[in-house]
Amino acid sequence: MANSAPLLAPSLLAGNHAALRDSLSIIENAGLEWVHLDIMDGHFVPNLSFGPQTLSDLRPNSKLFFDTHLMLSEPHRYIEPFAKAGAQRLTIHIEPDYPHLDTLRKIKSMGVCAGIALNPNIPAERVKPLLGEVDLVLAMTVFPGFGGQSFISSVLDKIKTLAEWRSQLGLNFRIEVDGGINIETGLACRQAGADALVAGTSFFKAPDKAAFIKAILA
Ligand code: DX5
Ligand code: ZN
Repeated sequence: MANSAPLLAPSLLAGNHAALRDSLSIIENAGLEWVHLDIMDGHFVPNLSFGPQTLSDLRPNSKLFFDTHLMLSEPHRYIEPFAKAGAQRLTIHIEPDYPHLDTLRKIKSMGVCAGIALNPNIPAERVKPLLGEVDLVLAMTVFPGFGGQSFISSVLDKIKTLAEWRSQLGLNFRIEVDGGINIETGLACRQAGADALVAGTSFFKAPDKAAFIKAILA
């Protein structure tokens, strides 16, 4: 099971991009603490989203924790701009070839929390050497690039493995899941050991945000 009280991080990607500030207010008014910011480069993933300028312009409008997911082939080139823009966590992917450890250390040297992400087809072993360096492991439950995709349930075993390692190694990183998360899939992930749920489509489409939050974090 999870080791911390579960958190919900709505993904701004599913909000109206002409009114991102309003989306932040919706999240904040619902009493949540985190917002998930999806950064895409059109290369590591086949889509584009927004960049540091957007974070920097949003930053003064919100007290939310900026949980920032870098879907970039070369994340090491963009740590400083995102840290300066107000990201409070920068989560980088394990799949591309760049200096992962140096990049995690660079993130932390800038006073920002560091996370490592892995796609659904990547075994947990790939991130094991880095677990002592991060405060969050992001287990993707879809192949990244787009909101509104279906949850891949085979990731549940990997979440269990990560949760076992967390307790065996005496570490306390959060396990975050991202992609196709709703009340049902969120519960399955929490039972496997996840304690941070990203929800884009299901959160923004929920007519009653309070009821949705109560159910998904119950
Ligand atoms: C997918 C992104 C997700 C996305 C989730 O590439 O990393 O954060 O916004 O969207 P839903 O919750 O709609 O699957
Ligand atoms: Zn994401």
